[in-house]
Amino acid sequence: MIVGKHEQPRLDRLGAYPFQRLRRLLAGVRPASGLVPIDAGAGEPRLPQPAFVAPQLEEYLNEFSQYPPTSGALFVREAMASWLVRRYGLASVDPSTQVLTANGTREALFSVAQALVNPEVKSKPRVLMPNPMYQIYYGGAVMAGARPWLMTCTEATQFAPDLEAVPGDVWMETAFVYVCSPSNPTGWVADHDWYRCLIELADEHDFYIVADECYSEIFWREQPVGLLEVCQSIGRADFSRCLVMNSLSKRSALPGLRSGLIAGDARLIARFAKLRSYTGPATPLPLQRIAAMAWSDEYHVGVNQETYRRSLQAFYEVWGHGSPPAGTFFVWLDVGDGEAFARAAYQQQAVTVLPGAYLSARDGSGKNPGTSYIRAALVDGEDQAAELARRLRQVRV
Ligand SMILES: Cc1ncc(COP(=O)(O)O)c(C=O)c1O
Repeated sequence: MIVGKHEQPRLDRLGAYPFQRLRRLLAGVRPASGLVPIDAGAGEPRLPQPAFVAPQLEEYLNEFSQYPPTSGALFVREAMASWLVRRYGLASVDPSTQVLTANGTREALFSVAQALVNPEVKSKPRVLMPNPMYQIYYGGAVMAGARPWLMTCTEATQFAPDLEAVPGDVWMETAFVYVCSPSNPTGWVADHDWYRCLIELADEHDFYIVADECYSEIFWREQPVGLLEVCQSIGRADFSRCLVMNSLSKRSALPGLRSGLIAGDARLIARFAKLRSYTGPATPLPLQRIAAMAWSDEYHVGVNQETYRRSLQAFYEVWGHGSPPAGTFFVWLDVGDGEAFARAAYQQQAVTVLPGAYLSARDGSGKNPGTSYIRAALVDGEDQAAELARRLRQVRV
């Protein structure tokens, strides 16, 4: 047998996924008895489904007998384009050339790297991403044959990826940059100037931008600005070099629907559509019908927004210090030792939270910026958020 014949060196570079690591951390730890468990580990919205889901599914049930178009049916791309125009005040978005559907943005954020990185071009091997990050960015970059470059986000930068800290030669070698705004897990939100500065760097050094804006509708006070909106405001109506992704998982609390949008530069959309015609991540047609409704209705989004706001408020009232994040439903708490705290929270209070180190990686200085943090998701409403804070306050490491 030839040793190494079946190795997958890129795959082997990836660690276990955060939830698998969490399961390992908590294996053998007995949760406190007599307390109803609280799972704040996963970022899965657990709010009621919008009222239109069941009737819409029933009406279009027969469409399960057709293959869905991978790029999305025109009716759902139109609904997505109209939402982008309304939400960001855009002059126009062409549903045929500037929009694609995703089977949930997770797969799209992963596979976009294969459309944007050419591993044979040795001068452009890098993909930049925030650290801490949604782990898919790292996996997508590595599996596309790129070298991840981590933009460490700490309290010192108010959790912004510091564009000035990136050396000039790194910018020159960059194929594309992942942005996460609002950021999972830190809650940071990009402002207009930050996005504009990144677009200028992209022009100067010839790279692309992929903005993951999945949490755009979950914010504390100010509605987050979007990358396409910034493009338009600087006269870049074709969104050149830019792609955004958004999802119904968070906006509509429909993570099981597996429906997201991809929009932006028509040239990149065409390239990505070609890749996707081979990989085939199509959302079934009846689910695309539900998605079209969800992008067209703001009432249910407003109801969810209020719930998340009340949850954040309730959490911080009890927690007693710090303030809610600008965006997302996550709290990112410095607890000294995230892993030890997560274990103690489970054992002493029957609460599951995620150690911050599982959402970040060691950067160039050898430090993992998430080590002292935990992430908790406020996805069960206000009373549960208050109870979560009460229990976390009592954890002793
Ligand atoms: C930052 C971020 N982006 C993307 C996703 C993917 O969501 P979905 O695949 O449900 O669209 C998530 C899910 O947790 C996320 O936290």
